[in-house]
Amino acid sequence: MSLLAEPSASAPYADLISALDVVSAQPLWDRYGRVTRRSPSAVDQPMLWPWVQMSPLIARAIKEVSMEDAERRVLLLTHPAFRDSFATTTNLSAGLQTLLPGEVARAHRHTLQAIRFVMEGGGAQTSVNSQACEMQEGDLVLTPAWTWHEHVHPGTDRVVWFDGLDLPLCRDIDTMFFELGEPAGSAQNQFDPPSTSAPSFRPDAVHLKPDIFEGHGTSPSRFRYARQRAWPALMGSTAKADGSRLLRYVSDDKLGAVLPTLDCYLQALGKNQPTQRYRSTSNAVCVVAQGQGSSQVGDKTIAWQRNDVFTLPHWNWVSHIAASDDAVIFMMTDRELLASLGYLKDEVAS
Ligand SMILES: [Fe+2]
Repeated sequence: MSLLAEPSASAPYADLISALDVVSAQPLWDRYGRVTRRSPSAVDQPMLWPWVQMSPLIARAIKEVSMEDAERRVLLLTHPAFRDSFATTTNLSAGLQTLLPGEVARAHRHTLQAIRFVMEGGGAQTSVNSQACEMQEGDLVLTPAWTWHEHVHPGTDRVVWFDGLDLPLCRDIDTMFFELGEPAGSAQNQFDPPSTSAPSFRPDAVHLKPDIFEGHGTSPSRFRYARQRAWPALMGSTAKADGSRLLRYVSDDKLGAVLPTLDCYLQALGKNQPTQRYRSTSNAVCVVAQGQGSSQVGDKTIAWQRNDVFTLPHWNWVSHIAASDDAVIFMMTDRELLASLGYLKDEVAS
């Protein structure tokens, strides 16, 4: 019998299958196609969470859910294909978190790795272990695995940020640990209280990889990448033939992605210039930082504008096109994770 042969209907064969089943074994030969696929096949369709729909729901959550009732006021962007695992796309979870002036999101830590990208407002702070990281619009703030983190808001306007986590992976491989800290300001919290004076974080950096990287020695990972440095770096980078510019946020101690499971990028698009089509085994969740346009993802066209969130499930052909001259997309991906496992494969259309 060949490896791809149809199963025999003979009685001895059926008896063999039954005997295998008794000992929790299965034949590989008649289910080879199900075990080893010829190519990836994402279970989730590309999906858009329009800001015009999400913003009123954020406003409702603010009215109806107090921080006393919710440790974090987060709207999880759960794809219907992953309803039970809270995933937004394969390997990645995203949410929209809101903090009002005077509110505190109590300290905790977990093995989940997380990033925040500020979508609206500013003046809040995230304390990551002993560092207070300012949160202004367009800033990226990291909370690596098992770092204590607390959000406070001494500012004056509501702040909304994109939360990105490796929740699906951490759940699937069952490596979740979680600890709740003491109430805000408690001396028992294992980090310094957030600064109310000048922020203590080190200078921010955004690096282009690989050819414009500026090394920073062996200092520990930074937790904040400010828009005020990211945007000029992006706009000052060399445009590709399709008019787009791509910048990767890079850790300064590993010379790689900002976190082992979350790999973040900024992309600026040339107006009316479609980006070169590509597909990848990696997945992405995109936040429209500014401008408007559309993306072709597989056979689906997604029209987007500022603060919309949409997904690029793996192995779909992708091309973006801007309808404005200022379009910038923030992308959270699992590229570093897949690369570290030897599973990253990219193709560019000729
Ligand atoms: Fe957290």
